[in-house]
Amino acid sequence: MADLTLTAKNPTALKVDALVVGTCSTSDGVAVVADQLPDALVRQIETLAPRLGVTGSPDEVRRLPAGDGVAADVVVLAGLGERAPDGTFSREVLRSAAGAATRELAGTDTVAVALPAVDEDELAAVVEGALLGAYSYTRYRTGKDTKAAVGSIQVVTSFARSARAKAAVARGEVLAAAVHGTRDLVNDAPNELYPAAFADAARAAVKTLGVKGVKVTVLDDKQLAAGGYGGLVGVGQGSSRGPRLVKLVYAPAKATQKVAIVGKGITFDTGGISLKPPASMPTMKSDMAGAAAVLHTVLAAARLGLPVAVTGYLCLAENMPGGNAQRPADVVTIRGGKTVEVTNTDAEGRLVMADGLVAAVEDGHDIVLDIATLTGAQMVALGNRTSGVMGTDAVRDEVKAAADVAGEAFWPMPMPAELKAGLKSTVADMVNSAPSRWGGMLFAAHFLKEFVGDTPWAHLDIAGPSYNEGSSFGYTPAGGTGVGVRTMLAFLEGRSER
Ligand code: BES
Ligand code: MN
Ligand code: ZN
Repeated sequence: MADLTLTAKNPTALKVDALVVGTCSTSDGVAVVADQLPDALVRQIETLAPRLGVTGSPDEVRRLPAGDGVAADVVVLAGLGERAPDGTFSREVLRSAAGAATRELAGTDTVAVALPAVDEDELAAVVEGALLGAYSYTRYRTGKDTKAAVGSIQVVTSFARSARAKAAVARGEVLAAAVHGTRDLVNDAPNELYPAAFADAARAAVKTLGVKGVKVTVLDDKQLAAGGYGGLVGVGQGSSRGPRLVKLVYAPAKATQKVAIVGKGITFDTGGISLKPPASMPTMKSDMAGAAAVLHTVLAAARLGLPVAVTGYLCLAENMPGGNAQRPADVVTIRGGKTVEVTNTDAEGRLVMADGLVAAVEDGHDIVLDIATLTGAQMVALGNRTSGVMGTDAVRDEVKAAADVAGEAFWPMPMPAELKAGLKSTVADMVNSAPSRWGGMLFAAHFLKEFVGDTPWAHLDIAGPSYNEGSSFGYTPAGGTGVGVRTMLAFLEGRSER
């Protein structure tokens, strides 16, 4: 990951490859917003900018030759849009502009970021954004055509020596490593990242990140069958590479509460015998984004030493058609004894999640969150950038509030009572797929709720936002986005303060 330091030096004196300053749109053009830039330079850029077609709009990143009096090779203008009525820029605007700049500067070695931050909270947003944007997935590139992420970042701020600012950097580094680690797993090819490989990757991440105090246990396919985890076994049985349930326990002595987070980890979702059409398949390598987010959230919580016990459950399976695959009509028994008629093998996520939720409840937690690329209906309802959150009212709202703090787009969705009728099966306790497709995301939440008992719970559906099929924007790259990590971490931090 890019190395990030704070500096209180005059930005024009920094000998870097690129110096990033902010621009914003005003009624009469473009204004430069950055601390400590000489007036002459500011006026020069402001005169030049409109002629170059620079508008200062969000996500705009433009490079200019630095010119006299600036030690950097180029000056980079990062758009912040219009100021809010009170004259400020929101933390998400700052995060996004910093990220757009470092992302666009991939291939550049040294970068200084001199965006306006009036306090340590805003500075934290700039730090987070700069690190989140400094990401590049190069694992399978053998040529020279891929640019490596920015090498080192200096954030210019008058708070460089404040303890809160230093803490913001330390936290930002842990947060970004978690998001990057999640993106990496999502981007990994599904021939390489199968359930057992994912379990190995979880163990390896504990080591490479130097995480202290997290215990990892793995149940393999035989142990899952013996333990009655019929959802994981049923979904996984069509693949030659069996399912796994990984449990990560972070239980600091000082903890006063215990939170479980359960993640969907379908390493590839073909749909199974209810096969998906070819066009919807390639992105299904991302169907483990929930499990990846859970893994890295638990590791981040441990690295930050949060005073909350967190248990992560990774429900890992590959959903393949094949001679041993489950059939649409099979009945499986979820851990704990509830039976499910599998009316559609492509509604596999809820089956593996049911086992994971039961395990989490059995282990005794005060609260359970689950996160999954669960339904295409999530995208129909909310689009590609906004995740849905459902569940017990208070927990759902707490997740939404945490998402707002973290700068991730989540929206609370209802669980209309009448949709519950769709669970009815003629042969088993319930079906996995409703006869009607309306409200598919909400129905899936009803299904999951059957397995959480009375435990306060929220379900995060990240189907669309977890994988960016379009081009990069702000601090978000194409491919795996790492969505959910920041919200869950903010949720745990919020819980720490109780
Ligand atoms: N993994 C998919 C959901 C998904 C779709 C995630 C598109 C990301 C992008 C899930 O397993 C699935 O196939 N869901 C079905 C459920 C249906 C059969 C009830 C769906 O949404 O179509
Ligand atoms: Mn599916
Ligand atoms: Zn799926």
